Amino acid sequence: MKTIIKNGTVVTASDTFKADVLIEDEKIVMIGTELPAEGADVVDARGLLVMPGGIDAHTHLDMPFGGTDTADDFYTGQRAAAFGGTTCHVDFALQQKGQTLKQGVEMWQKKAEGKTIIDYGFHVALTDPTEESINEIPSLVDIGVCSLKVFQAYKGAFMVDDTALYKAMQKTKEADIMLMTHSENGDAIALLTDELVSAGKLDPKYHLDAHPREIEGEATARAIAIAAVTGAKLYVVHMSCSDSIEQMAMGRAKGYNVMGETCTQYMFKFEDDMRVPGFEGAKWACGPPVRTPEDAQFIWKSLRDTTLQTVATDHCSFDYEGGKNGRNAGKELGKEGWHKIPNGIPGIEDRMPVIYHNGVNGGKISLNRFVALTSTNPAKAMGMYPRKGTISAGSDADIVLWDPKKKHTISAKTHHMNVDYNAYEGMEVEGMPVRTIIRGTTVVDNGELCVEKGFGKYVYRKNPQIV
Ligand code: URP
Ligand code: ZN
Ligand code: ZN
Repeated sequence: MKTIIKNGTVVTASDTFKADVLIEDEKIVMIGTELPAEGADVVDARGLLVMPGGIDAHTHLDMPFGGTDTADDFYTGQRAAAFGGTTCHVDFALQQKGQTLKQGVEMWQKKAEGKTIIDYGFHVALTDPTEESINEIPSLVDIGVCSLKVFQAYKGAFMVDDTALYKAMQKTKEADIMLMTHSENGDAIALLTDELVSAGKLDPKYHLDAHPREIEGEATARAIAIAAVTGAKLYVVHMSCSDSIEQMAMGRAKGYNVMGETCTQYMFKFEDDMRVPGFEGAKWACGPPVRTPEDAQFIWKSLRDTTLQTVATDHCSFDYEGGKNGRNAGKELGKEGWHKIPNGIPGIEDRMPVIYHNGVNGGKISLNRFVALTSTNPAKAMGMYPRKGTISAGSDADIVLWDPKKKHTISAKTHHMNVDYNAYEGMEVEGMPVRTIIRGTTVVDNGELCVEKGFGKYVYRKNPQIV
């Protein structure tokens, strides 16, 4: 099967140029001007940008968490991703207590089976750091997993101590696996939570008091120090504020193998959104919490100056009013107290348009930087480059045709995520995907899903790079 994308403007992380793109079967085979179109389906991309499909390096689909399960499963989550111009994601498989790491991955493979729309990989989260689990880490590369998450928070659930973090880093260094941390001081959060709850401080806004910015900075510094000593590659996920990002800047200036991710919501949702009277603030409960408009500006600056190298979503959707009509319980679980709110914000569908509109149109990042942050850098960091994350001969034909003039108002009424609210409700964006192509096949075209469940393929990943 041959397809040629004609007359578009190709945008990569480094260049912007007019060219045709020739696709044969699943791969890009040629890029050039006036390429011959014989025998090929012609896609006219006049007026459109031809960009590598988005890669979301941080999602949680079909995940049990906070006393319930996420609202999106692999079908609804991946379908929404495709509508938003994302062609690949890496989801977190959680090791269960008493399980091996590989059993965790197998469990998530079963969740995805028969439901996939876009391509996907798995990180595995080390939650039961027995000697066997630690020794198992290097063998993850055999199943195409080259990233391991360690939680420095969620005491009593997923958190591991510094001994386990240190040992895990020794092993990931040995096997060339990316060690990812959720960096907040879980001991401090547990203490603060007990104090606040005992004092009867139960409204959503107290979530903020239990997650001070200083302890995100402290845990980030600790993870970076251990990475420096062990020589491990470290990717700090969902960085929310200047306290942690400054630590990242320092670690990178010292030449350590460390890099940082932020997530869309940290540029648009703030502490004041959690402080509104009533329960509405529960929508924005996530860890680390949303911070301040000043932090958002600091994040944009850090995305420009390369202190931060990826924007993901941490998509973790729970209904605001769940538990009705057969739907999973959601944020309402926290009406008894903020500490019972399931943590997470949806956004897998919105990342690309929101970052494009506010970042590129808003003059905060260049078009090429947009591609780097949302596709090329996550592909490199997650061991998928150059198969994914760029437009070049030999790469998978994962392409988004982007109309820079198309306007859209984001709303839960029209989104494709299986969740009853949207973090960017009412935001008017200019610039939207009009066609999403994965391995040469059109997956979404002008608002229509064009593939069946099961289309998305598992991606074997290796050799993650610090970008
Ligand atoms: O609040 C969040 N971030 N929920 C998802 C789990 C995690 O820590 O990434
Ligand atoms: Zn986390
Ligand atoms: Zn997460």
